Amino acid sequence: MDGKSAVSLEVVLDRCRHGPGQQPNILQTLLAVQEALGHVPFNVVGEIARGLEVTEADVAGVLSYYPDLRTHLSGRHLIRICMGESCVANHCSRVLRELRDQLRVDVGETTPGNRFTLEKVYCVGNCAVSPTVIIDDELYGRMIPSQVASLLDQYR
Ligand code: FES
Repeated sequence: MDGKSAVSLEVVLDRCRHGPGQQPNILQTLLAVQEALGHVPFNVVGEIARGLEVTEADVAGVLSYYPDLRTHLSGRHLIRICMGESCVANHCSRVLRELRDQLRVDVGETTPGNRFTLEKVYCVGNCAVSPTVIIDDELYGRMIPSQVASLLDQYR
């Protein structure tokens, strides 16, 4: 880890430290670390555990449980396709197939040059206009496969 990341992690852990008699909030801390570093690398699990006074297994368990927590840096643009119930019912798998074809990567992978990372999520509260694709913080509803190429062009 470089010096800059170490300082950032230290600051984040300091901010997330629990007071006397309070329970440590592992999830909130991991989200804060991800916000600061862009991901939660496995090599900081020990430092987080020590900062929160919990075991490394506690931290690793939360880290592996929540799909929103990333252990690897994503590309410049993070594309998430919703695979929740409503999106599945509205054929998100066809949109996913088109995304894979256009990007030439599978879920969890990043395109060469680090432009796009493709991930799945499970319901982002946009069910009324599913299927949903999220690029960075922008939601796109009622996606159909034929819209995928022009949507990606906006981020190329
Ligand atoms: S199931 Fe996809 S937004 Fe709710």
